[in-house]
Amino acid sequence: MLSRSEYIRQSLETHLFFGRIMKEHSFFLSTGFTPRDEKFTRRADELKIAFGNFLEDCVALANGVISREAIASGEIITQYTLEAEKLTEFYTGIPLMTNITKAEKGLVAGNDFAPRMERKVSELNRRALSLLDSIIHFKTNILNDVLSCKMFTLNYPLLIEHILREAKLYRRLIQRLQSRDVINIQRDAFEQEAFWNQIMAEHAMFIRGLLDPTEKDLFNAADRFGNEFEQLVCEARRAMDKTMPVDYMQVTSDSFQATKAIRDFKAQATEGLLECKIRSIILPLLADHVLREANHYLRLLKIFRHR
Ligand SMILES: [Fe+2]
Ligand SMILES: [Fe+2]
Repeated sequence: MLSRSEYIRQSLETHLFFGRIMKEHSFFLSTGFTPRDEKFTRRADELKIAFGNFLEDCVALANGVISREAIASGEIITQYTLEAEKLTEFYTGIPLMTNITKAEKGLVAGNDFAPRMERKVSELNRRALSLLDSIIHFKTNILNDVLSCKMFTLNYPLLIEHILREAKLYRRLIQRLQSRDVINIQRDAFEQEAFWNQIMAEHAMFIRGLLDPTEKDLFNAADRFGNEFEQLVCEARRAMDKTMPVDYMQVTSDSFQATKAIRDFKAQATEGLLECKIRSIILPLLADHVLREANHYLRLLKIFRHR
C-alpha cells in the first residue's frame, strides 16, 4: 500500500506532467481541423480549457509538496516553454493560458503535506479520470473518422493514435494511484521502456515528416533516431517478455543514452524554431512538448537504473 505522502506527491507530479500534455494535445488537435469540422475545433478548445483549469488547480496544490527531482527534470516546463507558447499564440491567434506557465516557474519542492491534502488530491484524481474519459473518447472518434476517410485533418493519423496512447497511459497511472498500488519498478520498468521508446521513435518520425524538404541534415538526424528507437522498442519488449536471455541493465542503459541524445536534438530544434533558423511546419510548442516528454522519460530511466 502506498503511503499517504507518496500518494499525494506521485499524484500531483503525474498531473503536472500529463495535465499539461493533455491540454496541449487538445490544442494540437484544434489546429488541424478543416472549416467543415468547426464543431471538433470547438470541442478541442473546450478540452484545452478544461485541462488548463485542472492544471492550474494542481499547480496551486503542488507548491511545497513535490520533489526536487520533478522540478529539476524539465518535464513540467522547460526553459523554452513560455517563449514557445508566446510564439505559438502569435502564429495561431489561439490563447494558451500562459499564466499557468508563469505560476509553474515559481513551484518549489518540499514536504508540506497539510492534513486536508489527501482528500483534495483524491478529488483531483477523480476529476482527472473524468476529463480523461472525455479526451480519450474524443481522440478515438477522430482517429476512427480519419482512418475510415470520413475526416481530413492536418495531424498525422499516427499522431492521433500516439496522443491517444499517452492519454490511456495517464489514465492507467491515475487508476493505479487511486487503488494505492505500489508500483513494482522491476516488473514495470521494461513495460515503460517499451512504451516510451516507441513514443521517442514516433517523435523522431513526426519531426522528420514536418521538416521542410530542404532541411536535409535535420531530416537525416531525425531518421536515424527513428530507426534507433525502433530497435530499442524490440530490445525492451524482449526483456519484458523474457523470450530471450537479455542483459537487463544493458537495455536500460542503451535507452538512457539514446534518450539523452534525442533530448539534446529536440532542445536544439526548439531553440532553432524560436530563433527562426529552421524551415518546417512544426509549431514551437510541439517541439517543446516532445522535449518535455523526453525529459520525463529520462527521469524514469534514472529511477530504473538505480533499481
Ligand atoms: Fe504528447
Ligand atoms: Fe508524445
